[in-house]
Amino acid sequence: MAIVSSKQSPQPDGSKKPSPAKSADRSKPQQTDALLQPETVNEEFASKQDDKLRPQRFDEYIGQRELKEVLDIAIQATKSRQEALDHLLLYGPPGLGKTTISLILAAELGVNCKVTSAPALERPRDIVGLLVNLQPRDILFIDEIHRLSRMTEELLYPAMEDFRLDITIGKGQSARIRSLPLQPFTLVGATTRVGALTSPLRDRFGFVQRLRFYEADELGQIVSRTAEILKATITPDAAEEVARRSRGTPRIANRLLKRVRDYAEVKHSGEITSSIAKEALELFNVDPCGLDWTDRRLLTVMIEQYNGGPVGVDTLAAATGEDSQTIEEVYEPYLMQIGYLNRTPRGRVATPAAWTHLGYQPPDEQMRLIS
Ligand SMILES: Nc1ncnc2c1ncn2[C@@H]1O[C@H](COP(=O)(O)OP(=O)(O)OP(=O)(O)O)[C@@H](O)[C@H]1O
Ligand SMILES: [Mg+2]
Repeated sequence: MAIVSSKQSPQPDGSKKPSPAKSADRSKPQQTDALLQPETVNEEFASKQDDKLRPQRFDEYIGQRELKEVLDIAIQATKSRQEALDHLLLYGPPGLGKTTISLILAAELGVNCKVTSAPALERPRDIVGLLVNLQPRDILFIDEIHRLSRMTEELLYPAMEDFRLDITIGKGQSARIRSLPLQPFTLVGATTRVGALTSPLRDRFGFVQRLRFYEADELGQIVSRTAEILKATITPDAAEEVARRSRGTPRIANRLLKRVRDYAEVKHSGEITSSIAKEALELFNVDPCGLDWTDRRLLTVMIEQYNGGPVGVDTLAAATGEDSQTIEEVYEPYLMQIGYLNRTPRGRVATPAAWTHLGYQPPDEQMRLIS
C-alpha cells in the first residue's frame, strides 16, 4: 500500500488541556492529562504504533455495522464491474476509525491508498501531483477535507466528476484551460465537521457516512484485540472497565489500555485485572464514565456559573478557556451521547444526570423539565 504521507495533523483536541482534577477536588486543576490527549509528541512513532493496531480487513474491524454493510455491498458491486468505488465522505468525532476504514477499503479492493490531509494541499500543484500519479481505481484519502483551499477544491470538482483535471496555463488574456485525463479513482474524504464542507463538494460524494461512537461491548472487544497484539494479559472484566471509560472511542481505548498495562507491569505482576485497571484509571483521573478534566470543567462551569444553562458555546469557551470549535467537535458529541448535555436553540444545557454525576443536586426546575 503506497502511503504518501500518513502524517496526521494535530487533532482538534490537540489544544493544550489542563489536567484532570479528582472529582472531589474540581476546583484545583493539576498537571496535564497526557492520557486523553492525542499522541503528538512523536507523531511518526505514534502512527507506526497505530498501524500495528489498525485492523487490516473488514472482518477484523469491530463495530460500525451499518457502515460496513453499506461498504460491503459497494465493494462487491464495483469489484464485479471493475469500476472505481464511488467517492466516500466519512464524518464523525476524532479517533473512531475513519483513516482505518480508508486503508481497509484499499486492501479489500486490492488497490493503493494515498493518504494526505487538506492542510498539506495548500498549493494547487500539491493535489495535481497526487491526482496524476494515481493508478486506476486507487483511493485518495484526504483527512480534514473541510480545510481544503478554494483553488484545490475547484480542481477537485472535475476530477471527482469526470476524472479530468482542468489546469489554467498562462495569465490574463492569454490564459487557456488545458484538460488532463485522470485514471478513475475514489476520493475518500474525512472530516469532523461535515457542516463546514461547501455543498458543491459534499454533493460530489456518492456516499456520505457517519461514524458512530462505539458501544461498550464493541470497545471491550477492541481492548481485548489490542491487548493480544501488545501481548498483554487482560481479564474480560478489566477489558470492560477500560472500555467503559473510553468515551466510545477506539483510539482512547487503545491509549488507556497502554497506560493500564504500564501500571500493571510496574506496580503488579503484569496481568491486568479489573481492580488493577480501576486503580490505574483512577490514578490517571479518568472517571467511570470516561469524562476527563475538561468535560467535568465544562459541566461544572455550566452548573455553578449558569445554573445548568442555557449558555452559548462562545460564553462557555470564554469561561473555560477552551476553544469553541474544540468544545463543539471534541467534547460535546460525547457529552450529548451519554445524555449529560443538550444543545438547545438558546444554548447548551447540563442535564440532571450531569448534575448528579458531578455530585450536585439538580434544581427542581430541571427535574420538572424532564418529567
Ligand atoms: N473498528 C475498530 N476496531 C479496532 N480498532 C479500531 C477500530 N477503529 C479504530 N480503531 C483503532 O483506533 C485508532 C484510531 O483510528 P483512526 O486513526 O482510523 O481514527 P480516525 O477516525 O481516522 O481519527 P482522526 O479523526 O483522529 O484522524 C487506530 O489505531 C485503530 O487501531
Ligand atoms: Mg484519521
